[in-house]
Amino acid sequence: MASTADSDLPSTPGPSAPRPLGDLVNVADFERRAAEVLEPGVHGYYAGGAGDERTLRENVAAFGRHRLRPRVLVDVSAVSAATTVLGSPVSMPLLVAPTALHRLAHPDGEPATARAAAAAGTIYTLSTLATSRPREVCAEAPRAPRWFQLYVLRDRAVSQALLDEAVECGFDAIVLTVDAPRAGRRERDVRTGFAVPADVEMPAIRAAVGAPTGPSPVQFFSLLDTSITWSDLERLCADCPLPVIVKGVHTAEDARLAADHGAAGVIVSNHGGRQLDGVPAALDMLPEVAEEVGDRVEVLMDGGVRRGTDVLVALALGAGAVLVGRPILWGLACGGEAGALRVLEILRAEVELGLTLLGAPTPADVEPSHVRAG
Ligand SMILES: Cc1cc2nc3c(=O)[nH]c(=O)nc-3n(C[C@H](O)[C@H](O)[C@H](O)COP(=O)(O)O)c2cc1C
Repeated sequence: MASTADSDLPSTPGPSAPRPLGDLVNVADFERRAAEVLEPGVHGYYAGGAGDERTLRENVAAFGRHRLRPRVLVDVSAVSAATTVLGSPVSMPLLVAPTALHRLAHPDGEPATARAAAAAGTIYTLSTLATSRPREVCAEAPRAPRWFQLYVLRDRAVSQALLDEAVECGFDAIVLTVDAPRAGRRERDVRTGFAVPADVEMPAIRAAVGAPTGPSPVQFFSLLDTSITWSDLERLCADCPLPVIVKGVHTAEDARLAADHGAAGVIVSNHGGRQLDGVPAALDMLPEVAEEVGDRVEVLMDGGVRRGTDVLVALALGAGAVLVGRPILWGLACGGEAGALRVLEILRAEVELGLTLLGAPTPADVEPSHVRAG
């Protein structure tokens, strides 16, 4: 029988040999290790942003422009990071964002990430551009809450089949990504000539193009339907038995339209700085969205969250929870399921410690007065 250590050994793209995770104490440590172990083209695809990467940098920098305002002599003898998102209980206000192509980080791919999220007690969002089908991911973490991220493909039958499979398999919500009618120009990928290796299967793309080989990111975005509008959202919300969350909202105006057309939630996001370079940090757009629709729909945000204290800042500015993208990929690259789980455990411990020191025993106790700009 194979030992646990043996079964952790990658067989397709990914780190060449597992190294102990024990000396990685924060997300930045995982990020550095991932840069060492990943093949340069894959690392560039994961790490990179669009254009001059101004928005990519801004997403992280924005958290550094905020200061926490702790309150003292608050009873913090029973602190819990647990909360609910769209009615699902989660261990912390931090979920796993949809990211493509997990098998490039580790051969165990999306099933490993799903198991890690389930073990950490949080929600995993499976991307349309995953290397596993919804059914496969569901089998790996059958009882965990999970969401399915939808790109509407020009071949609507393919999108519908994915959606139907997600519904059948018990996914809890659909995340409709609306900020990527075309791929942003990610110059790291241009320089490395990044393309998905022929042996890495993307079931949605295979169904759309009828071929097993994975094209470049620009090519797979060219399969998306760029004609979709608010009326398509309204139809999706009406027809889909699951709540629909709109991901990629930047402004109060669009947040209001999303709520008006039936969305159950919005994710303030600029796709991790990978789409329109020059837009503000997601954190900087959060307050206007929360103010506009926070009393009607769930408001979430992603982009640049690297610390538990970042989560606290986002909560204070009106988010119900945040999502993380790259930190999970770094965890996966460094140690498969165990690495992704370690990243989530580190972040949960940081959130819990942060809540304690902030004088807010639960996420719901974090208020706007707990933060100030600058
Ligand atoms: C490598 C990579 C692939 C991504 N793939 C998708 C995707 O398939 N669908 C999607 O909606 N967002 C995708 N995103 C965006 C993430 O969901 C999320 O918005 C972003 O990563 C958050 O920023 P962070 O990486 O700073 O946490 C991707 C991001 C990265 C880094």
